[in-house]
Amino acid sequence: MIRMKISAKMKKALNDQVRLEADATNNYLAMASWCEVTGYEGAANYFYSQSDEERTHMLKIVHYLNDMGAIATISATKAPATSHKSLETLIKAALKNEQAVTKAIHKMVEISQRDKDHSTYAFLEWFVNEQVQEETKFETLLQKFDLIGRDKLAINEIDKLLAAQATASAEPAA
Ligand code: FEO
Repeated sequence: MIRMKISAKMKKALNDQVRLEADATNNYLAMASWCEVTGYEGAANYFYSQSDEERTHMLKIVHYLNDMGAIATISATKAPATSHKSLETLIKAALKNEQAVTKAIHKMVEISQRDKDHSTYAFLEWFVNEQVQEETKFETLLQKFDLIGRDKLAINEIDKLLAAQATASAEPAA
């Protein structure tokens, strides 16, 4: 086994983050499933791919911990909500979740700075940028309800927008 290259505090924070990302994967999977059975096909595809994305985040941290000789811990996840009042409240819940993740990532950045742990600091940079995008994505979607409306036709338009975004993010990066 390789020598541990990060502090115990950093190890704990990163392992907590593994659990948060696992929670996010499950949360988005449950949201996708709810959208699917409610008839929001575009939103379902969008959240299925969002769930996959969160799994890749989780794996990045698992591999990083193991590479640093800190051993990743895979723990139980929280049971996600199984139903939602509307597509709008679902997206609001997604934004809230991302804001909590951003906060946790910023805390880890602070720990890495205190530890003068340059490797973890550099590793976290990707996550800091990713969170800016994630929050903006959901904030922009929420704006659509004010711009387009909340009646059945408007929701159908928003579902189509989500379908287009799901397809765009599923395409391999150039
Ligand atoms: Fe992995 Fe959406 O935070």
